[in-house]
Amino acid sequence: MKSDIDKVKGSNNIPNHLAIIMDGNGRWALKHNYSRTNGHKKGIETLRNVITECIEIGVKILTVYAFSTENWKRPKEEVEFLMTLLLYYLRNEIEELNKNKIKLNFIGRINELPKNIVEEINRAQKLTEENNRLILNIAVNYGGRAEIIDAVNRIISLKLNSIDENEFKDYLYFKNQPYPDLIIRTGGEMRISNFLLWEMAYSELYFTNVLWPDFSKEDLYKAIYEYSFRERRYGGL
Ligand code: FPP
Repeated sequence: MKSDIDKVKGSNNIPNHLAIIMDGNGRWALKHNYSRTNGHKKGIETLRNVITECIEIGVKILTVYAFSTENWKRPKEEVEFLMTLLLYYLRNEIEELNKNKIKLNFIGRINELPKNIVEEINRAQKLTEENNRLILNIAVNYGGRAEIIDAVNRIISLKLNSIDENEFKDYLYFKNQPYPDLIIRTGGEMRISNFLLWEMAYSELYFTNVLWPDFSKEDLYKAIYEYSFRERRYGGL
């Protein structure tokens, strides 16, 4: 019998843009008697594997939710750890990402982040800007409502009287990218948590109980295989 992996590789209906809410790091850590920070560390490994598989499958854009505008409410130590992890990621994985022709793009209120992180982000984006194998959008200090409000404020500052949906898109963080085809949320919660509110209007949703650090190659292929059968009508017949 063919595995989901073989079936996906033979399918001509894979998502061009995949977005992921990487949830469950804390619960994974608790389950293994580790500190929550170890869960986030393990989460980086999962992300690394998922990136490799996205390239293998032919996904062209991967968007991941790393830190929301609401995550500042977490204990100070956890916020600091997540920022350090991001810095580590930017400093230690950038060469490998660049070698694999991955273009890094950060979305969110980036300028509100600590200065050293903003500098690393700018450096990483500049270094990888010509790459075209996979666009990796990392949402940091990101909120879907904040994104819409930022767009509205830019429009007001330009003194525009009215704009249509297509024009509005140009003011969002994603610029020229297509909307996500599939959004996966790991960790068992059935909500969107302020992620990609505008962009997800016609995205397919996939929820799994698997905690992010446990999310395997097989789990990814299972989600993409299920997606390949979804009939997308965009409100039409
Ligand atoms: C949600 O799990 C996860 C986060 C808030 C952080 C996600 C971050 C990573 C996977 C690693 C960082 C990524 C980069 C690119 C630096 P949770 O803590 O809410 O888990 P819980 O719901 O089980 O408590």
